[in-house]
Amino acid sequence: MSLILGLETSCDETAAAVVADGRSIVSNVVASQIELHRCYGGVYPEMASRQHVLDITPVIAESLAQAGTDWAGLDAIAVTSGPGLVGSLLVGVNAAKAIAWAKGLPLIGVNHLEAHLYANWLYTPRQATNGGPPPAPRFPLLCLIVSGGHSDLVLMTAHGQYRVLGRTVDDAAGEAFDKVARLLELGYPGGPAIQKAAEGGNPNRFDFPRAMLKDGYNFSFSGLKTAVLRIVQKYPASPAPAAGAAPARVPLRRLPIADLAASFQVAVVDVLVEKTRRAAGEFQVEEVLLAGGVASNALLRGQMVARVPVPVRYPPPALCTDNAAMVAAAGYFKHMAGERAGWDLDVQPGMRLRCELSTDEKRIIG
Ligand code: KG4
Ligand code: ZN
Repeated sequence: MSLILGLETSCDETAAAVVADGRSIVSNVVASQIELHRCYGGVYPEMASRQHVLDITPVIAESLAQAGTDWAGLDAIAVTSGPGLVGSLLVGVNAAKAIAWAKGLPLIGVNHLEAHLYANWLYTPRQATNGGPPPAPRFPLLCLIVSGGHSDLVLMTAHGQYRVLGRTVDDAAGEAFDKVARLLELGYPGGPAIQKAAEGGNPNRFDFPRAMLKDGYNFSFSGLKTAVLRIVQKYPASPAPAAGAAPARVPLRRLPIADLAASFQVAVVDVLVEKTRRAAGEFQVEEVLLAGGVASNALLRGQMVARVPVPVRYPPPALCTDNAAMVAAAGYFKHMAGERAGWDLDVQPGMRLRCELSTDEKRIIG
């Protein structure tokens, strides 16, 4: 059995996890900074890195304690080295380097997007006892990675072999959820808030644009956000509270929040599902995987299963958002392929998925 310690500090979660053989979660600890950043309506980068510095050591200690292992029981350490916030990434990478050097462990740098994708390989101890471990995903597969910073449609033909078929040309899907939630004064993070606000709303009330629906595999969500803004601006603002009165606790404008949230959500989901459905047919994939924070969206999951003609797999919500178990899983398959990072491993805030054309892929793409 191979035990990998994963570390994740690319944004606003400090996380450490131990995973066995790339699939079985032995421990998974996440210290979330959501409450710290909530009043800013988004992540405040300087505060995020300072909080990672405070949390990283206790989070690692907790993950080892929960796993019932010490340093000697580990086979390697994997860490997210990009993409993400530079100051946040540096905390994890430096911690991983220090541990690897002090304990003589192999060091593996992991791309955060690749890690999200590998969340689909993970299973929990409960899954293992209830019916045994689920089978591993089968290649070739298509993965839709939708997070706060990315919307990538990726063809994967083997471990580590990717081709990005399309990505967003402007806002990421999660970013659109967050920005529209801010317009509707629903708070942060926006995705779960919009999903909740949309319950009971009429998704057909506003006919929002589905940009580039028939055009290739790239995405564009900024026009959709502007379309929501135009509707919001049509509603008169409520009068400011009288002097001395408590500030309004209801949205300043009397907006049809549920209908707006539902119409926006269905527009995003329509585009994501339609492009994935088309690519699944074109590249004859065995499975479709969803990954990233937006993959916890219930409408996206339901529509993908209903409209895509191959099996659809997605991680439980806690493994869709940032965690370190997914980093350890991705790290394991790199470890098996003999990949090692040197002491010069650096952070790459703008890192993209490394795309290589394998023989298999050439055969599939033609
Ligand atoms: O993957 P993630 O935790 O962090 C990044 O790597 O960006 O994704 C966070 C994003 C946020 O934009 C958040 O609003 C979105 O995922 N999100 C959701 C839902 N839960 C989280 N979007 C739509 N519906 C959800 N239920
Ligand atoms: Zn992420």
